[in-house]
Amino acid sequence: MSLLVWLAVALSLSSTIVAGGDCPGAHRNITMEAACREACGTATATAAAGEPMYQVCMRALGEDYRAGSVKEAYEFAYDAAWQAVASYGRTAGWAEYVLGNGTLTGDAKAAYGLVAGGSYREAEAAMGQVCHRVMDDCGLDLSDDYKTALRDVAACRDRLAKMPPSSLLTMVEKDYTSTMLAYLLGKLIGIK
Ligand SMILES: *[C@@H]1O[C@H](CO)[C@@H](O)[C@H](O)[C@H]1NC(C)=O
Ligand SMILES: *[C@@H]1O[C@H](CO)[C@@H](O)[C@H](O)[C@H]1NC(C)=O
Repeated sequence: MSLLVWLAVALSLSSTIVAGGDCPGAHRNITMEAACREACGTATATAAAGEPMYQVCMRALGEDYRAGSVKEAYEFAYDAAWQAVASYGRTAGWAEYVLGNGTLTGDAKAAYGLVAGGSYREAEAAMGQVCHRVMDDCGLDLSDDYKTALRDVAACRDRLAKMPPSSLLTMVEKDYTSTMLAYLLGKLIGIK
C-alpha cells in the first residue's frame, strides 16, 4: 500500500471515529423549552390527532424537570429515551396480562405476542442502548438503535390497528409518539 493510500485510509478511519463519538451540541446548556422547540419545530404527534409535538415534549420532560430548567442537551435526550423504555415495559406487561387470560386466538394472539415479547423486547433493548450511551455517543450508531425501536413499535401499532380498537393499541400509539419524541431530542444532539 502506498503511503498516500495508507494516509487516506488512516484519515478516513479517524474521521469515522470522531464522527461516531463527537456530539456537537450534546453538552451545551439549554432550557427545556428551547430543547423542545428546537427538537420538535412544527412536527405533529401522529397518535394524538394533530397535537403539536412541542406540547408532547413539554409534558414528557415536565414530568421530570421544572419549567425553565437548564440542562446539558443530552440529558433531555436521555430522559425521553428512558421514559420510552419504561413505557414499553408497562405496555408489554399489559399485553402479557391479557394473553395470560387465554381468550385470545389467531391474529390477535400473535399481535399481542409481538408486544409481550418479540418486537417490543427488541425495541426495549435498542432504546436501552440509547440510554446507556447517549451521554458519550451520537451519530450513526445510536441512530440505528432509535430506528430499530421506531420500526418495532410501528410494526406492532400497524398490526393492532387492523383489529377492533383496544387499550393495547392506545398504549402502543402512545409509545410510538414517545419513541418519536426521543428520536427528535436525539437529533438535537447530533443523532442522524
Ligand atoms: C452547563 O452547566 C453546568 C452547571 O452550571 C456546568 O457544570 C457545565 O460545564 C455547563 N456545560 C457547558 C458545556 O457549558
Ligand atoms: C378475560 O377475558 C374475558 C373476556 O374478554 C373478560 O371478561 C375477563 O374480564 C378477562 N379477565 C381478566 C382477568 O382479564
